[in-house]
Amino acid sequence: MNIAVLLSGRGSNFMAIHRAVSDGEIRDSKIVSVISSRPGAKGLEYAIERGLNGKFLSPKDYASPAQYDTAIAGELEANGAEVVCLAGYMRIATEVLVDRYYGRIMNIHPSLLPAFQGLDAQKQALEYGVKLSGCTVHFVDNGVDTGPIIAQRGVDVYDNDTVKSLSERILEQEHLLYPYVLSLFEQGKIKVEGRRVYINQ
Ligand code: GRF
Repeated sequence: MNIAVLLSGRGSNFMAIHRAVSDGEIRDSKIVSVISSRPGAKGLEYAIERGLNGKFLSPKDYASPAQYDTAIAGELEANGAEVVCLAGYMRIATEVLVDRYYGRIMNIHPSLLPAFQGLDAQKQALEYGVKLSGCTVHFVDNGVDTGPIIAQRGVDVYDNDTVKSLSERILEQEHLLYPYVLSLFEQGKIKVEGRRVYINQ
């Protein structure tokens, strides 16, 4: 399976996916494209240092988000992407991407969706006072963090947690969850029907 990753920053989820491909946890896949919406993103540097096909596409070069996504879609197609992984990608995918890749475009979010959508999910969780948070991998639809949920992992919230400590523990689980989902996906074990996602083990 040809994997493409869209990112904007640190890229630790992309690195976890890359590690899983290298280690053979994701057995039959390769990373064919890494696109960053920000220049100098750590994740992009990591990709380029490892000889992967990494590219910065500047949103400023395009008149609208839809035109930007048309350029992204062009890159993805040129590289034969079969699944598109948003990993710390700080933009909202427009219909251009979502319609073309629906069911093959996923995102990871640091909360148990549908709770705490959008930015600063870990801070939202702490401020709300939940005792359990976690992370979610979901298909991307036209909303923000609203698409069908593929898999989730829970993380306890402790009384002495800070945004930093909670984010770190959630991130550890993110690094396990995304590769796990991709390994199932490449084996054709994930099926989406409406809002329900079924996993055939
Ligand atoms: C992660 O917490 C992810 O869930 C969220 O943004 C963060 C990205 O981190 N969407 P990284 O760039 O993968 O290190």
